[in-house]
Amino acid sequence: MNKPTTPPSKQSAGIAPPKGRLGVLIPGMGAVATTLIAGVNLIAKGHGRPIGSLTQMQKIQIGNGGTPRYVAIKDLVHLAEPGDLVFGGWDITPENAYQAACNAGVLGHDMLSNVRRELEAIAPWRGVFDQAYVRNLKCTHVKTGASKRDLARALMDDLKKFLADNDLERAVMLWCGSTEVYSEPGPVHQTLESFEQGLRDSAPEIAPSMIYAYASLMCGIPYANGAPNLSVEIPALIDLANRKGIAVGGRDFKTGQTMMKTVVAPGLQARMLGLEGWYSTNIIGNKDGEVLDDSGSFKAKEVSKGRVLDSILQPDLYPELYGDYHHKVRIDYYPPRGDAKEGWDNIDIQGWLGQSMQIKVNFLCRDSILAAPIALDLILFMDLAQRAGLSGIQEWLSFYYKAPTMPDSQEPQHDLFVQHLMLTNMLRALAEEEALDQSDLGENVEKLIVR
Ligand SMILES: NC(=O)c1ccc[n+]([C@@H]2O[C@H](COP(=O)([O-])OP(=O)(O)OC[C@H]3O[C@@H](n4cnc5c(N)ncnc54)[C@H](O)[C@@H]3O)[C@@H](O)[C@H]2O)c1
Repeated sequence: MNKPTTPPSKQSAGIAPPKGRLGVLIPGMGAVATTLIAGVNLIAKGHGRPIGSLTQMQKIQIGNGGTPRYVAIKDLVHLAEPGDLVFGGWDITPENAYQAACNAGVLGHDMLSNVRRELEAIAPWRGVFDQAYVRNLKCTHVKTGASKRDLARALMDDLKKFLADNDLERAVMLWCGSTEVYSEPGPVHQTLESFEQGLRDSAPEIAPSMIYAYASLMCGIPYANGAPNLSVEIPALIDLANRKGIAVGGRDFKTGQTMMKTVVAPGLQARMLGLEGWYSTNIIGNKDGEVLDDSGSFKAKEVSKGRVLDSILQPDLYPELYGDYHHKVRIDYYPPRGDAKEGWDNIDIQGWLGQSMQIKVNFLCRDSILAAPIALDLILFMDLAQRAGLSGIQEWLSFYYKAPTMPDSQEPQHDLFVQHLMLTNMLRALAEEEALDQSDLGENVEKLIVR
């Protein structure tokens, strides 16, 4: 039965409401970024609905026990309005957002023509690029500088000019650039001092996405990472974020196959069904797929996709069910598919008396259609976090990421439903409402026992 929806009694008590417009700075004006920007403009003109966005559509339960109220997230906490977003960004090719959206081929010309003027007005600034980090792309529109320190300064100049030109007091940076090759934090990434020395020395271990993240934090702007490469997730930059009180988060938008995996796996574990193997394969034909065709970039993606099952299934607690399963993830670049990715999952499970069964999932998804609402929510929630004084890693936004960045050596949560509870309980806390604690369930159990 549907429960009644009532208006909220209060909004994000104690948190400064958004004032003026919100700048959105995007390194990487490709499929995800242009689908987001086109979508925000199309929705504002009444040409579509923000399906998939919690900030725009979800109502959450407020209050435990009795008759709960259901309140829209955007009525519970003060969020910037999508119509108040001002977009700017960088790319290594010079196409404006309209041309880039046409090239990406996610939305048809019938839709894009409605927002052509708005998209053509967004021309990317020259990017900071290093071919060693993205080997399958050609760059034609990049900054030059004597050192990586100079490149960071040039990004900060772009950023400050953008804020000044648009009269903005707040902004969020969201990395939508290509997946960089896999790397692990090394000595240069350990402290802010070693990192800044590395910038001056143009240390090869400093990836372009780290330079963007550094520039963002130095300008006091929250930074979120939609790709699987490290970017802000190194001790030096986390320390910088904590010192300056800036919200950061990542990594890798949780869109298609991994989203399904983090829905199905908790169900199998809840029912104590065993797992013999999970084979996941994808075909994708967009630029992201082309980049992932390189083994270095694929390794970053493989690692970010690979960790989810163990965390959900808890093989240490249930070695007889999950101690020895085979997990394989493949992505094949197949140009005819463009952005319309197709994912197949073959899941070999075990039931009563060890009998084998199979589950097949065939997800014909649209990668950037799933990513755009995640990008919008992250922008609005990162801005909320910053206004609420939540600095450093925002693990309550794990819901949106394949490999959530966590403080210190804490293990991330991957179960989508646990992540959803973390997110909504943080929103309840920000609105000074009590956390959802299933106490009505407890009351019902007590009634049964009394009878
Ligand atoms: N599409 C999805 O559903 C999805 C899901 C999860 C993660 N991601 C990740 O999000 C990122 C963006 O995905 P996409 O589909 O938009 O890819 P895309 O290839 O369409 O866009 C990436 C853009 O980044 C640009 N770029 C690369 N290096 C740059 C740099 N150093 N500076 C500035 N621009 C740079 C490229 O020229 C390109 O235009 C990728 O890392 C991808 O793996 C995407």
